Amino acid sequence: MRKTLSVLLTAAMATSMLAACGSSNTQATTAAPAETKAAETQAATTAAPAETTVAEVTEAAKEAAASGDTITVGFAQVGHESDWRTASTNSVQAALSKENGIDLQFVDCDNDSAAQLEAVRNFIQQGVDYIVIDPIVSTGWDTVLTEADDAGIPVIVIDRTIDDSDKYVSWVGSEFTNEGLAAGAWLKAYVADKGISEVNALVISGTTGSSAQIGRSNGFDKYVESEKWNKIDEQTGDFTQEGGQKVMESYLKSYEGKFNVVVCQNDNEAFGAIDAMKAAGVSYGVDGDVIVISFDACTAGLQKVLAGEINADFQCNPLQGPDCLNIIKKLEAGETVDQKTFMAEPWYVAEDKLKDITYTNNSGKEVTEPLVVVDQAVVDAAY
Ligand code: AHR
Repeated sequence: MRKTLSVLLTAAMATSMLAACGSSNTQATTAAPAETKAAETQAATTAAPAETTVAEVTEAAKEAAASGDTITVGFAQVGHESDWRTASTNSVQAALSKENGIDLQFVDCDNDSAAQLEAVRNFIQQGVDYIVIDPIVSTGWDTVLTEADDAGIPVIVIDRTIDDSDKYVSWVGSEFTNEGLAAGAWLKAYVADKGISEVNALVISGTTGSSAQIGRSNGFDKYVESEKWNKIDEQTGDFTQEGGQKVMESYLKSYEGKFNVVVCQNDNEAFGAIDAMKAAGVSYGVDGDVIVISFDACTAGLQKVLAGEINADFQCNPLQGPDCLNIIKKLEAGETVDQKTFMAEPWYVAEDKLKDITYTNNSGKEVTEPLVVVDQAVVDAAY
């Protein structure tokens, strides 16, 4: 552990965050389509800290490298609720490895916000060099991030966003609102193409208060409103297969025969919902009565798209480990880092009739993005 370096890094971080706060918000609110990403990342790049501070940090990094110390990183992971989460954990563990000079302290917070705050406080007490957080929920962070800041420990946020503090050096993750908007735009085009005049939708949402849930719900709801769709109900399945199945079982009791769309906010919920519909004899997917929309596009999700059981799957990319390592390396070298980085995320479909979707993204820009028809090669390349 290298406290001198951490303290200097935080000085640089505070300078750069202050500079950045004057011009843009630290929250991820801009669009994520592949063609706009580079420009947005550029625009989001944190302003350079004062020259003297950079020099001090670089000097400290050199000293640390010369001393051969490993870098200690505490990672407060959300939990193990989904295939996506497993891929995320694997990605971070592979990148922040001993071979890469990192001693990773990993805590699975089991989807418990209090446990996650405690994990971060323990990392602060241990005096780790960096803290990586994937925040279960987007609020409740101000106090503990101030404590990390006071202790001189840089915080990196991955995947989900934090709404009530800007005391972190960098964020890398997904534009969840665009995922929800894309799902709405696809459904609008799909029902028009199929001549379906009424949309009666059930939503199985993710963990309430997570930015993944908030963004996907808000994005899809824009279409519910503009297209005057009937959203019958929205209940949380907590991003788990068990949760998706339970919610769908209860929906079937109340609404069987009354819905023709189910929006599951991740693949595992979709697997549970599909099992429940199967057991109840409700037909779904490309040849069925119920259109199934999902998010994540993990291997098992894309297998279901290929089989026609899920109609469309909007990718959420969990492979943030290499970006995380890159951020740490840059900070170690005294370089400035991008304040926010968006993952590239394609949209996958089962049928080849619609080629693309056009929608106004969360930055207010009209974008046209391709729909990728899933074949075996796509499944084989998935995470
Ligand atoms: O925050 C990302 C979301 O969390 C993924 O969609 C989901 O699978 C995970 O549990």
